[in-house]
Amino acid sequence: MILGVNVDHVATLRQARLGTEPDPAMAAALAILGGADGITIHLREDRRHINDRDLDVLKNSVPIELNLEMAATAEMIRIAKDKRPDLVTIVPEKRKELTTEGGLEIRSNKKAVKEAIKRLRGSGIKVSLFINPLEQDIEISREINADMIELHTGAYANETGSGAEKEFLRIENAVLKAGQVGLVVNAGHGLNYYNISRIAGIEGIRGLYIGHSIISRAVLVGIERAVREMKDLIDASVITQLKQRVAKMESARTA
Ligand code: PXP
Repeated sequence: MILGVNVDHVATLRQARLGTEPDPAMAAALAILGGADGITIHLREDRRHINDRDLDVLKNSVPIELNLEMAATAEMIRIAKDKRPDLVTIVPEKRKELTTEGGLEIRSNKKAVKEAIKRLRGSGIKVSLFINPLEQDIEISREINADMIELHTGAYANETGSGAEKEFLRIENAVLKAGQVGLVVNAGHGLNYYNISRIAGIEGIRGLYIGHSIISRAVLVGIERAVREMKDLIDASVITQLKQRVAKMESARTA
């Protein structure tokens, strides 16, 4: 299971003084040393954190998956086609939000998202859609030719107790559904060192995309260590899940 590290919050700190440090490109290099499998940035219309220079530098320096989160606007499609990141994740974007608030309103924006996918894939860029874990949204994602989806885990992350359980089951079912329709499935948003293990234990998820919790920990322990600790939790969960599957197969064989 891959870990994509979002370095937007490093740029947010830089923008607090409108200066040059800390540099998200340096953070990306250290995240890679810590074991990141991908680097994610969200280029927003208002350039509130990541800017065009960051995209340029990262495109030319990141040797692993560079995932560009963006809205499906004409400006962003033009930039993506020009810079050619490895992956574009189409997200909804509102000017006043603190972070991406939910998955795409894919039912009402089907035509525009389909056109964006067509244009991006036409330039050889893989396209993922950030959607809520709903069957209908998964079916539409398949219908409009997305390569992948990223399931929004924010509702799971914000809940506790039976609420979290309900949201977890919703994600588990969505992963299953995505596999049935032939979509590669990722997950992200609100994942942290305490809630990651259950999600990382779901069979069929290709990758997890995490920003805030890793950068928050990095302020205290350094980026390399923060990424390594997250990666270790993910790996441990994947190994536990594999062992459980092997044990199940063994007991079915001997029954
Ligand atoms: N995935 C997507 C599509 C996002 O928009 C974000 C937030 O930028 C993340 C993952 C990471 O969320 P968080 O910062 O809560 O880990």
